Amino acid sequence: MDLPLQVIVNNEIETKRIAEKFALLLKEGDKVLLNGDLGTGKTFFVKNVCVKYGIDTVTSPTFSIVNEYTGQKKIYHFDFYRIKKTVELFDIGFEDYMKDREAIIFIEWAELVPEVLPKKCYTIQFNYINETKREIFIKKNE
Ligand SMILES: Nc1ncnc2c1ncn2[C@@H]1O[C@H](COP(=O)(O)OP(=O)(O)O)[C@@H](O)[C@H]1O
Ligand SMILES: [Mg+2]
Repeated sequence: MDLPLQVIVNNEIETKRIAEKFALLLKEGDKVLLNGDLGTGKTFFVKNVCVKYGIDTVTSPTFSIVNEYTGQKKIYHFDFYRIKKTVELFDIGFEDYMKDREAIIFIEWAELVPEVLPKKCYTIQFNYINETKREIFIKKNE
């Protein structure tokens, strides 16, 4: 997969295909920031990346803030949607999660807490077009 990538996907199967290709790029220590409105497919995307690593139990971390998984890779999956103050992240040990070089970290709604985000990361923007169509824009930031 060559980046940056900007595509229109017509359905879930096409999103899944992109997630599977993206999964092959990721290495331990990588951070992936996912932005886009509710229901645009951020969780769906992470779920399908994780399936590639033998993890098929991914659920939305909206209420838990962070979910952890271990398969062929170790995964921390955050959702900042309900975070009101940066201190709430520090309370749950966000800095320690970010320091773990063995894990791949996904953060949904990353843009809601910009002050804690790494510069070196992948960003994925999801835009809703219609019920099954989305625009997906994946970029690598050094
Ligand atoms: N092309 C598509 N890509 C991703 N999800 C899609 C697509 N078409 C329909 N959907 C549906 O949209 C919803 C996306 O939900 P979710 O991944 O939880 O969104 P978010 O995490 O961005 O709030 C799911 O119900 C999924 O089945
Ligand atoms: Mg979600």
